[in-house]
Amino acid sequence: MNATDGPLMTPWAVDIDLVTGTMAEPDRVLTRKASDMRGYYRDEAALEQLIGQDDPIHYEVFEKRIPETYGHLLLCISKLYPGCVGDECFMTKGHYHTISGTAETYLCIRGTGYMMMKTSDGVCHSEAMRRHRMVYVPPHWAHRSINTGDEPLISFCVYPADAGHNYGDIATEGFPRRVFIRQGKEVIE
Ligand code: F6R
Ligand code: ZN
Repeated sequence: MNATDGPLMTPWAVDIDLVTGTMAEPDRVLTRKASDMRGYYRDEAALEQLIGQDDPIHYEVFEKRIPETYGHLLLCISKLYPGCVGDECFMTKGHYHTISGTAETYLCIRGTGYMMMKTSDGVCHSEAMRRHRMVYVPPHWAHRSINTGDEPLISFCVYPADAGHNYGDIATEGFPRRVFIRQGKEVIE
């Protein structure tokens, strides 16, 4: 396959504020609320309570419109709000890439937390996320962001445009480790 297949794209640019973690004029904003997260947290009753209160936004993904084809790169801002479901920290659903041999870089712009990663044979690895730290998610690792702080955890993500998202396997398997805040302290178990 040739990366120049298809119509020639005109070069372009986007402004990203590295202090606030804001992308100017995104083409698409994906929003996940508490009610989109059923089945992901240990304490299902606490999640239902949260949904019943005001169903808060868990995270948003700000994207530019880029063809999801070989040769292009997708880029987005991932913004995960702070909070807990019971005592478990807010997190993204997590996914493998559909083409699992594709990597991703996450440059953390703001906030604190973890990138939790796992392979399909159950090996688990987490990396701390904090401002100015880049996490490299290698091919074949499912990945989920977890916010342990009290401000949004914001990352700038770049990955092959044809990677695709496989949510189904993680929805079934989960991750071997979860992150909690208990008595003001982080607990990973
Ligand atoms: C893209 C990627 C991120 C996530 C975003 C939301 O491959 O990893 O942009 O999509 O952080 O998380 P998920 O997709 O797991 O709901
Ligand atoms: Zn990804």
